[in-house]
Amino acid sequence: MLDLLYKRRSIRKYTETKINPETVKILLQAALLSPSSRGFKPCQFLVVDDPKLLSQLASAKKGAGHLKGAALAVVILADPERSDVWVEDAAIAATILHLMAESLGLGSCWIQLRKRQHTDTEAAEDYVRGILAIPEKLKVPIIMALGYPAESKSPYTEKNINYENVYSNTYGVHL
Ligand SMILES: Cc1cc2nc3c(=O)[nH]c(=O)nc-3n(C[C@H](O)[C@H](O)[C@H](O)COP(=O)(O)O)c2cc1C
Repeated sequence: MLDLLYKRRSIRKYTETKINPETVKILLQAALLSPSSRGFKPCQFLVVDDPKLLSQLASAKKGAGHLKGAALAVVILADPERSDVWVEDAAIAATILHLMAESLGLGSCWIQLRKRQHTDTEAAEDYVRGILAIPEKLKVPIIMALGYPAESKSPYTEKNINYENVYSNTYGVHL
């Protein structure tokens, strides 16, 4: 697990290789196994592999351009009526999806929609909701872009571990 965490990076360039259905199923199993507050499971997952839709999603906001050229996107949806802490639950599902992708040799990158704008007058979430016919009552906090990596990034090393942010028993007292 620690090796995987050192290796994990956000990958934004992808080859044209498709992700086979068995692999997609494994990714979804991981996401659906995510823990959630009180087990309420407020998240749903919309898999997008249509290149035309992926291109449209790439315009959702600045920092989403890599969706054009991704093999797949998993749009993470959350029902705020099912849980008041859906933000945390969605973030956990995204994290698990990101790590599962890494373990399968896939590259992936989180795309933040919540609190981000498509234009001055339209939220990124609403833009995506319109493209994918997502019901109004569901939140659309995150898209995960996925594909086989066409870029390689250096893994993290012990130099990246900042123990300064860790305290023991009393705030300010380092381990
Ligand atoms: C909450 C969150 C939001 C992010 N939003 C975006 C985004 O909208 N677009 C993007 O390209 N990367 C996004 N990222 C990826 C970060 O930029 C990336 O994790 C960070 O630069 C560290 O790089 P690393 O993942 O390779 O360690 C996001 C990551 C997190 C955790």
